[in-house]
Amino acid sequence: MKLRRAPEDFLDHHQIAEVQAGRRDFLRRAFLAAAATVTSTQAGAQSPGDPAILNLPEHSKALGQPVVALGYGAPSQFEKNLQRRESPGLTRVGAASVSFSPLQGLFGIVTPNGLHFERHHQGWWDIDPHQHRLMMMGLVRQAKVYTMDDLMRLPAVSRMHFIECGANTGMEWGNVAVPTVQYTHGMLSCCEFTGVRLATLLEDCGYDRAKGKFVLAEGADGSSLSRTIAMERALDDVMVAWAMNGEMLRPENGYPLRLVAPGVQGVSWVKWLRRLEVGDAAWASKDETLHYVDLMPDGMLRQYTSIQECKSVITTPSGGQTLLDKGFYNVTGLAWSGRGRVKRVDVSVDGGRNWRTARLENPVLPKCLTRFNVDWTWDGGPAILQSRAIDETGYVQPKINQLRAVRGTRSIYHNNAIQSWKVAEGGDVTNVQVY
Ligand code: MTE
Repeated sequence: MKLRRAPEDFLDHHQIAEVQAGRRDFLRRAFLAAAATVTSTQAGAQSPGDPAILNLPEHSKALGQPVVALGYGAPSQFEKNLQRRESPGLTRVGAASVSFSPLQGLFGIVTPNGLHFERHHQGWWDIDPHQHRLMMMGLVRQAKVYTMDDLMRLPAVSRMHFIECGANTGMEWGNVAVPTVQYTHGMLSCCEFTGVRLATLLEDCGYDRAKGKFVLAEGADGSSLSRTIAMERALDDVMVAWAMNGEMLRPENGYPLRLVAPGVQGVSWVKWLRRLEVGDAAWASKDETLHYVDLMPDGMLRQYTSIQECKSVITTPSGGQTLLDKGFYNVTGLAWSGRGRVKRVDVSVDGGRNWRTARLENPVLPKCLTRFNVDWTWDGGPAILQSRAIDETGYVQPKINQLRAVRGTRSIYHNNAIQSWKVAEGGDVTNVQVY
């Protein structure tokens, strides 16, 4: 296996902007120069007199560093360029922006907490958990205010789920807009969340079973982001969570408390959760009438969309990467469905004419990312790589033109189309759309 990394792993922000502006020659030079320092062992495998094999390095002879007795562990210095990144010019201010997860550099299905994507409407806060409160009110027998200590005494559950912003891949409705999988699909992450089931809290307050049909969740940030959840879903698998991947939530992801709404678009995963209200009708809040609505071809806006439909993407090889020579490659990617488990992923290397079934790696969990792999021997010629996921309901991930026929080209949200990566003869991989 040769180069597997995307340019953002090596380039700084300014350089990425140049890549996005289409300066492919620059990309290749910068990419190869950076790669030469990182992949020296790969080059060494082909040269018999390699000093990296012949000379015993210092780290095999001398005493290493002492234990990291105090402090939070950090990745290797050689991995420091694998970062969340903002797409230049996407929003006017950083407090209302997005940072994308570097999917091209992740393995398995878990997103490390420091690489989880971020989407804020009015900036993030590091809220003192001792001061934080959750209020339960509305159609309940007894309105309650919980401290974090109160919540963490309740029966806890831990579950693995993906979170995907409804706007993920939103820039690609009309045409190819961004070069790499970090920007096409990086508003996607997957964690093990720990918290209390919303059903437990609703029972605890004695919600009105006859009239209580909806729950409103509201955040404690300046945007007062609020979203309606139908009672049926609230009682099913929604959680009020305080932990991700074994530690307390990160501030930018809602510390100390967030809603986890499995399968539902990210905006409903209210961060810095401060209020839950039981009601008999949907609230029609600004975040469900003005924002996060689907623009249909006839100009109508579709409201209250919620589930993230089945989707997949090849993360390696993907846009911005370069295959240095022909031969064997492991094609790998992620698949997910807001309706349950992924049943099958097919991969094509000829733009969708022929398909092969990929291997799904365990675990395959409902409403969770699933990792797939498939063997591929590149003959050095042009190729178009695609993946197509099918979930347990039988839903098949659509082609971009099938989606456009129903949704038009001016939408933002819920683009779950099949992604195409073109491999050119020279090995450069680029983002293309195949109709
Ligand atoms: N909750 C509050 N209170 N404020 C916000 O701005 N952003 C929402 C949602 N919850 C938001 C929020 C959106 S649009 C998304 S996609 C997810 O949080 C992103 O969660 P993350 O930042 O943990 O990835």
